[in-house]
Amino acid sequence: MLTRISLIDANHLALKLDRMNRLIFDDATGWLRNKNISRRTLTTFRTARPVSKKIVEADRVRLTKGIPAISLAAKQWAGVGPYYAMMPTSFALQQIKHFTDQGDVVLDPFCGRGTVPFAAAALGRSFFGIEIFPVGWVYSATKCNPASQVRVERRLEEIAKLKPSLLEDSEFFRMAYAPKTLQFLCAARQYLDWQNNQTDRTLMALILVCLHDKTGAGLSNQMRQTKAVHPTYAVRWWKRHRKSTPPDIDPVEMMKLKIKWRYAKGVLDLDSTGKIYLGDCTRILPRASRIANVKLLLTSLKT
Ligand SMILES: C[S@@+](CC[C@H](N)C(=O)[O-])C[C@H]1O[C@@H](n2cnc3c(N)ncnc32)[C@H](O)[C@@H]1O
Repeated sequence: MLTRISLIDANHLALKLDRMNRLIFDDATGWLRNKNISRRTLTTFRTARPVSKKIVEADRVRLTKGIPAISLAAKQWAGVGPYYAMMPTSFALQQIKHFTDQGDVVLDPFCGRGTVPFAAAALGRSFFGIEIFPVGWVYSATKCNPASQVRVERRLEEIAKLKPSLLEDSEFFRMAYAPKTLQFLCAARQYLDWQNNQTDRTLMALILVCLHDKTGAGLSNQMRQTKAVHPTYAVRWWKRHRKSTPPDIDPVEMMKLKIKWRYAKGVLDLDSTGKIYLGDCTRILPRASRIANVKLLLTSLKT
């Protein structure tokens, strides 16, 4: 049975740590008390707004100090990948440490890039996450359970040799990626079975992480990491800033370096078990037997 539910407004989470006393918990214990979660319950869950009140000083100290230690490997993987409205990992670690014990199950039905399940796994808790958006799911499923470095590097070499049957050809794609990079990305999109294969999923996640960045640091022409802009806007922006030529990088060499860096400290040593589901939580939760053992529900929604 759930003992506590914390609903956190992602807008508040965007605030810096020193303003976290604005973060409010809506202690809605009992919402998901029954194993059978109705659609109505979830609607309430979605539209509920956090209560706006200052938390007491003791809570503030708890929230801003004493971030639980995690391994160097976990720190290295926590950054996978750029996402909108990310919950700070330190915050998730604090909440999970405070409200649960080793082995307890932590649920995030709107888990995005997997901050909550990952923090739970890093602290030896079991995790249960759901995400409807494939990019978020690829990140969260990968960071909680990445394939081995050897497998990922081998798959990268294979993909690099494949020719895609469809090569994007529009002004946006010509300005966004150098020809070699575009071929590599189209092949990755076509051949990586990210939904069913752990190695393919891990490689896809690592490609997505470095898809956009400042010129030369990512695979594309300069573009923000966390916010998708409309292709027309991007083209206009590149023209206005005299950046119409994409960076001439070797995508495979860049990926090799990124993979090496990501695995440099190893991977999360998983004592715990868990699963991240791809799909709509309103459909998955009512059928999930795992819900019965959830000790903490920690999530964030952009309201
Ligand atoms: C504010 S984001 C969560 C961010 C997350 N805490 C993190 O740190 O990455 C909310 C997420 O809920 C997902 N979402 C929205 N409706 C959903 C649904 N019905 N089922 C599952 N996920 C959903 C969105 O795709 C989005 O990734």
